[in-house]
Amino acid sequence: ASVGKDGYRHYMEKELHEHPVVIGQTLQRLIDPATRRVVMPDLPFDLAAVQRVVLTACGSAFYAGMIGRYWIEQYARLPVDIDVASEMRYRNPPLTRGGLGLLISQSGETADTLAALRGMREAGQHIVSVLNVEQSTMARESDAVLGTVAGPEISVASTKAFTAQLSVLACLTIALGRARGLIGPAQEESMVTNLLDLPSKATEVFERHDEIRRMATIVADARDVLYLGRGAMFPVALEGALKLKEITYIHAEAYAAGEMKHGPISLIDNTVPVVATVPSGPLFEKTLSNLQEARARGGRLLVFTDMAGAPRLREIAECVVAIPTVDEFVAPILQTIPVQILAYEVALLKGTDVDQPRNLAKSVTVE
Ligand code: G6P
Repeated sequence: ASVGKDGYRHYMEKELHEHPVVIGQTLQRLIDPATRRVVMPDLPFDLAAVQRVVLTACGSAFYAGMIGRYWIEQYARLPVDIDVASEMRYRNPPLTRGGLGLLISQSGETADTLAALRGMREAGQHIVSVLNVEQSTMARESDAVLGTVAGPEISVASTKAFTAQLSVLACLTIALGRARGLIGPAQEESMVTNLLDLPSKATEVFERHDEIRRMATIVADARDVLYLGRGAMFPVALEGALKLKEITYIHAEAYAAGEMKHGPISLIDNTVPVVATVPSGPLFEKTLSNLQEARARGGRLLVFTDMAGAPRLREIAECVVAIPTVDEFVAPILQTIPVQILAYEVALLKGTDVDQPRNLAKSVTVE
């Protein structure tokens, strides 16, 4: 059956608005709401025995994987090797048999990700794929599939599949941490509660639409844009920059905020907007001081934060978009939504072909 736009101007706009529902549906598959515990599908191996994770994907799915790495390292204390699939497939990294090979793909057909999957299988990894299309080649070649319940994604630029992938990776992180004896019942309940609150918090993000539009008018006039973030917000910055490049053709680069002084700071002047994702939390002060450095060089600061972080940022930033404050664990899921909306709003101002950007394909099935 063909999918309509339901009155939205573009599939991308419709799919952005589906974030809350998609996060909720995806979590429903992996969480028992009564016990507030993660329930994994049957796996043909023991999660507790996994000593190492090797993770790969392409495009936005890769950035979801980067956030997964921060989580798995922090909460399950497992080492995670991650790379884009086009590199992973030829790197031939030394892998000990019995590790977890984790693949992420909306389509389940991306050529490089599939090749990396086959390489991991040959190297004796247990293959778990996070897939939106559950009747796909990757699904057939995996030991287990963790489904994202995002529904069909038509817009070439991925949106809702990304937050669905994060929802799955968050649950997998809890399952790994629990299996390794690092996440007890109380912590699991609190992490799950934070996840289950996301659909309603995600709906609230759309109340900030006017401020995001104001930001978009500044970005639309720029030739180059620098995106910054620290920790799990670094991949959020990468996702924001990718989305902007893909659909507006404005050059955007994302940097780990602390790395800015090793290069991109030389680019900063009042013609290069700096888009930063800086929610409250342990890395807030460090990122704030990076922004002050950018401000001192005439940079125009456009900042995504949360209610708790907003007052400090309003002192230095030209635009502040403050979304609900949530626990550090789930913050990257929520903070992704406004950076994607920003790219969409800039594309509207530029008049580009939002759903079918030039030179890009929804699914890259050739190398
Ligand atoms: C293409 C799409 C991206 C997507 C990437 C990976 O580049 O334009 O939106 O993130 O492929 O696709 P996959 O289906 O493997 O997630």
